[in-house]
Amino acid sequence: MNKIIFSPPDISEIEIENVVETLKSGWLTTGPRTKLLEEKIAEYCHTSKAVCLNSATACMETTLRLLGVGPGDEVITTAYTYTASCSVIVHVGATPVIVDTGKDSYEIDYDAIADAITEKTKVIIPVDIAGMMCDYDRIIRILESKKALYSPSTPIQKLFDRVIIMADSAHGFGASYKGKMSGEAADFTSFSFHAVKNFTTGEGGAVVWRDREGLDNDEVYRTYQLLSLHGQNKDALAKTRLGAWEYDIIEPYYKCNMTDIMAAIGLGQLNRYEGLLARRKEIVEAYTKGISSDTVSVFRHEDDDRRSSMHLCLVRLLGKDREFCNEVIVKMAEKEIPLNVHYKPLPLHTAYKKLGFDIKDYPNAYAMYENEITLPLHTKLDDEQVKYIINNFNEVVSSLG
Ligand SMILES: Cc1ncc(COP(=O)(O)O)c(C=O)c1O
Repeated sequence: MNKIIFSPPDISEIEIENVVETLKSGWLTTGPRTKLLEEKIAEYCHTSKAVCLNSATACMETTLRLLGVGPGDEVITTAYTYTASCSVIVHVGATPVIVDTGKDSYEIDYDAIADAITEKTKVIIPVDIAGMMCDYDRIIRILESKKALYSPSTPIQKLFDRVIIMADSAHGFGASYKGKMSGEAADFTSFSFHAVKNFTTGEGGAVVWRDREGLDNDEVYRTYQLLSLHGQNKDALAKTRLGAWEYDIIEPYYKCNMTDIMAAIGLGQLNRYEGLLARRKEIVEAYTKGISSDTVSVFRHEDDDRRSSMHLCLVRLLGKDREFCNEVIVKMAEKEIPLNVHYKPLPLHTAYKKLGFDIKDYPNAYAMYENEITLPLHTKLDDEQVKYIINNFNEVVSSLG
């Protein structure tokens, strides 16, 4: 049996050939392949446009800047996530408002959102954990019930009459909710194409947004380009056209563009993506069948309204604590099976403690973290490996009592 790896990239000859062709093409940085990937992502997500950048973090931070969110503003997110959902709020100088998860849920506590909204709240960042989209209709209803408090301060914020939803769908590329693709439900949605994600460009990410009356998609696209490429009014390709050397710097902005080498990988992945998702689903079904019991709960990747992108297999050992789960992780490592934990809630990390957050205020997120273990879930796993993981997991858990 081949060695089991927690989350290796699935790279085929198609991606390799695409990259080689790009390297030979003479054009490496943002150019025709990035533009093509953007078009294909927009088509896939049923949006008018997409912007590819070098990470989901860059997509989210740039979106906050595009919206004009900054000092004095508050942005809501959830405790049960990776730091990037919250660090971007700090990067733009706004104040993070971290909300607990719902009871027995990895999703933000919908009932707590209304109370977290103040006159300073500009944006909410729900997180589509494991690729399962949040209940966006419910979030919209909550935001609408609080729209009297919404105080927009930039022209783009004024196009909204309620707090703006910027989904962190780093895990959720290809997920759907009530027949809408991830990207069609929130106002803005960011995806991660990091090496461990379902769909990778090595590092990378994309942001898409919903059409909105008054929102000029071309202007939004242009602003993302400025924000991600030094505030320069011409990209590298435009500058190389004969005689077109001159450019202006509109503002001293940032640098987080996607290269055509990355986009070449993404174009290959997109061709194969439906097959990759189907294989993930098979593995999730095998885990669910092989592991779930009265005391072991396997994350549900599908319900009546939603189908996730099956990014992570989150398992809870009900009634157990972190110490027990860590022992399981060690015993499984002895059998050469790498496990992981998603996530240590933000208030347990030094950076967020320093900002004044206290895990005591997040009992639900803590309860989810306390007995969570993540199993390997990726398309390089074969059936024999999946069976080996299931058998050993059941054995280890029952041997530790
Ligand atoms: C929930 C979540 N949000 C954001 C990110 C950041 O993605 P990227 O590495 O592409 O910036 C990650 C990365 O793991 C993540 O898990």
